[in-house]
Amino acid sequence: MKIIHFSDPHACLAPQHLSALFDKRILGFFNHTFRRSFNHDPAMLDKAVEFILREKPDVAVCTGDITSTGQPAEFEKAMEQLAPLISSSIEFLYVPGNHDAYVKDKACEKALKDAFYTINGMRWDLEELPIRLELGGCEFIVLNECHPTNIFLSSGSLKEHDAKIISKWCAEKKTKPRILAGHFPVRLKQGNLGARRSLKNRQTLSSLLLSGTIDLSLCGHVHKHFKNTDAAGRGEVCAGSTTLDGNVAVIEYLANDDRFSISFVSAGSSTQKKKSGDENV
Ligand SMILES: [Fe+2]
Ligand SMILES: [Fe+2]
Repeated sequence: MKIIHFSDPHACLAPQHLSALFDKRILGFFNHTFRRSFNHDPAMLDKAVEFILREKPDVAVCTGDITSTGQPAEFEKAMEQLAPLISSSIEFLYVPGNHDAYVKDKACEKALKDAFYTINGMRWDLEELPIRLELGGCEFIVLNECHPTNIFLSSGSLKEHDAKIISKWCAEKKTKPRILAGHFPVRLKQGNLGARRSLKNRQTLSSLLLSGTIDLSLCGHVHKHFKNTDAAGRGEVCAGSTTLDGNVAVIEYLANDDRFSISFVSAGSSTQKKKSGDENV
């Protein structure tokens, strides 16, 4: 059972609508233009998609921030690059990042809903999350932690209702590895980004992960990849930003040994830029 996990490609375009000049989008655009674009290479997403198509994993997972300011044109740009993967036979899961749910704007919200529906193979509407499903002999819990916040925040929140549902599912006897797909780190060591940038109310998920009730948490948001796992590969994996450090996480569940093998692989060494250590979220 093989998973390829990538995150945070951050497609970015200048504000496309007059209203964007008066909300958080203008800040996001300047942030990208004057900080992120010096390091992010959009072509790395194409390389990652090519890599995944070559490797043919059982499941591909994108843990969000496919856009920078959640504008419809940014979703279009990202979807264009993801199209070969979306139309392939590889199972593909996507959860929103905080930049995909950037502002309370009808057109932006619709663009996220449409992208979510299409990338996930027209299986669920965004409002249906959390959902769980079995893929390749593992149980996946797919979660939306992202909702528009004020201009100073890049945080997410675990809704009480969602925490209850996930707790109920996790109280059932586990018969296969249980994998969480969300945007934010939930383990305390790496998830402690400060209130402005982290997942509010993450304690339920942290406890389930630390107790082994959830085997693996796949996340993004932090743009530098990391793993925080035990000897059996159980714990948390952050894929980093595909367009910043150019890596994807290759995760194999080895059923005979009941452990995960996790490695970070450069998706396209020919265009890889120097790693900057930028951990912007
Ligand atoms: Fe993020
Ligand atoms: Fe991000």
